[in-house]
Amino acid sequence: MLQRLDKILSSQGRATRSEAQRIIRSGKVTVDGAVCRDPSAKIEPDRCEISVNGNILRYSRYIYIMVNKPAGLLCVSRDTKVPTVMELLPAEMRRPGLFPAGRLDKDTVGLVIITNDGDFAHKMLSPKKGIVKRYLALIDRPVGDEEIKAFSEGTSLGDGTVCRPAELVVRGCGGTDNRYQLVEVAISEGRYHQVKRMFSSVGRTVLWLKRISIGGLQLDENLEEGGCRGLTREEIDLIFA
Ligand code: URA
Repeated sequence: MLQRLDKILSSQGRATRSEAQRIIRSGKVTVDGAVCRDPSAKIEPDRCEISVNGNILRYSRYIYIMVNKPAGLLCVSRDTKVPTVMELLPAEMRRPGLFPAGRLDKDTVGLVIITNDGDFAHKMLSPKKGIVKRYLALIDRPVGDEEIKAFSEGTSLGDGTVCRPAELVVRGCGGTDNRYQLVEVAISEGRYHQVKRMFSSVGRTVLWLKRISIGGLQLDENLEEGGCRGLTREEIDLIFA
């Protein structure tokens, strides 16, 4: 399908549309070996070789975006009443077919991936793959060996569901007077309100929850809350590593 050259470049998540136009006008972009200075030139990205600064662009029709979700947004493609994570995307990243791969609760913050690749999302979320998701949680009362053991053996939720073994590590104290405990928990499934329900099953309440990694992909520390950026192929592979 023919597309504008500036749109192709920005669709890869590395440059905004205006940055792409600037790069193209500066003569740094070639199409099949010839310099193209026209951002509106129509190209078939699957059939042409596009280079930027001498580096061949590995065009992908799919896009993968890391988002640092703030509290208050829903992890859905659209909602008529409540703002969604999709509203964090800058104009140049928006396109039909994008959706958040997996859900965080409205009040949970941290790593979310937005993509238009359904197979990828399915693979990442499939319980069979057992991809580990790590969370930092602030809880109302300290846990000890007993709770760590209960998590490692698989906690039983209120409705009788038994969770897979999970890792629970104490990280420190938190809250204004250090009354609360900061813990890290790693789970390999994604049940509804799972982390909150796991703590509830050992008599603790989660006051704040942040997802910090999915598989080997860590939330970028330099990404401010509400920020988003495209993922590289290497980062996508890290999820499944
Ligand atoms: N577990 C929860 O309880 N909430 C989330 O948002 C994610 C995991």
